[in-house]
Amino acid sequence: MHAITIPEPGGPEALVWDEVPDPVAGEGEVLVDVVATAVNRADLLQRQGFYDPPPGSSRHPGLECSGRIAAVGPGVSGWAVGDEVCALLSGGGYAEKVAVPAGQLLPVPEGLSVDRAAALPEVVCTVWSNVFMIAHLRPGETFLVHGGSSGIGTMAIQLAKAVGAKVAVTAGTAEKLERCAELGADILINYREQDFVAELREATDGRGADVILDNMGAKYLDRNVQALAVNGRLAIIGMQGGVKGELNIGALLAKRAAISATTLRARPLEEKAAIVAAVREHVWPLVSGGHVRPVVHREIPMPDAAEAHRIVEDSSHIGKVLLVTPG
Ligand SMILES: NC(=O)c1ccc[n+]([C@@H]2O[C@H](COP(=O)([O-])OP(=O)(O)OC[C@H]3O[C@@H](n4cnc5c(N)ncnc54)[C@H](OP(=O)(O)O)[C@@H]3O)[C@@H](O)[C@H]2O)c1
Repeated sequence: MHAITIPEPGGPEALVWDEVPDPVAGEGEVLVDVVATAVNRADLLQRQGFYDPPPGSSRHPGLECSGRIAAVGPGVSGWAVGDEVCALLSGGGYAEKVAVPAGQLLPVPEGLSVDRAAALPEVVCTVWSNVFMIAHLRPGETFLVHGGSSGIGTMAIQLAKAVGAKVAVTAGTAEKLERCAELGADILINYREQDFVAELREATDGRGADVILDNMGAKYLDRNVQALAVNGRLAIIGMQGGVKGELNIGALLAKRAAISATTLRARPLEEKAAIVAAVREHVWPLVSGGHVRPVVHREIPMPDAAEAHRIVEDSSHIGKVLLVTPG
């Protein structure tokens, strides 16, 4: 088969479409003929040599895919050759074939094409596990997501609205904020021109956010705590603003607030399977019903993955950039 390889870490040109050995479905796995994968910010770090795949995972980048089952390994039930699926991966999506633990498979939701389904697994599983399974966002609460027009942000807005939350977003341009509003965001904050703590307080009569989904890490730690409501929950999933920050524990105590931080890729197989099962139960009906849709910026042929990485690196996209296998 062909796959994107990274012979030497570096810029987008480090991504090379090359012939590599086919993967094999092991115990508890299925082999998927990949139709599409999607670019995640973590793939940029892996390309630069800063984010190695966990032990035992494919060396090729790609944290999600969609396609058709080509073979079913020993010990797998409930899936058959030819089934249209999408999957959460710990690597290997930028390839014509990938072996996937059966617990990380989802059927392509009704009403969605196979290629578009590649835009869902990583963002849906990340948002569901952090915002709902850990931070327990409830109807009527205020939810702030930073980077509202990102792959993660476009899904977080839709899921939070679907459960009846009030949604605030930050983004860097008026056009991106406009797209967030079209997806349902109620409070729009341009992080380049406005102070999100002050804007959020004003929009919530001084209460702040019950739940914040944060991609910035250190740079926003102090201001995120300031922006939390009493009993607020801050869920950190990214470190775009650095890894070491100073925390005002007094402010956290006074608000009886909580901070969580997780990365999906490193979670054990059983935890990923539990998240995927919860997503299938709670989110898939919303997708099939047309209440939640993948936001796709562009589809690009997989051999041209470098072009897709340039788009995501420049942050000129809204939603997800897909890579589609040739032929
Ligand atoms: N922990 C996990 O398991 C996990 C899983 C998936 C993703 N993530 C993380 O989630 C984040 C989003 O991932 P993605 O793949 O959806 O990335 P993406 O589409 O590339 O989006 C990155 C976002 O960061 C925003 N941003 C940059 N500077 C900002 C600032 N100062 N304030 C607020 N927002 C800012 C950008 O906004 P503008 O374009 O408006 O500038 C953009 O929306 C990344 O940090 C990624 O590492 C974590």
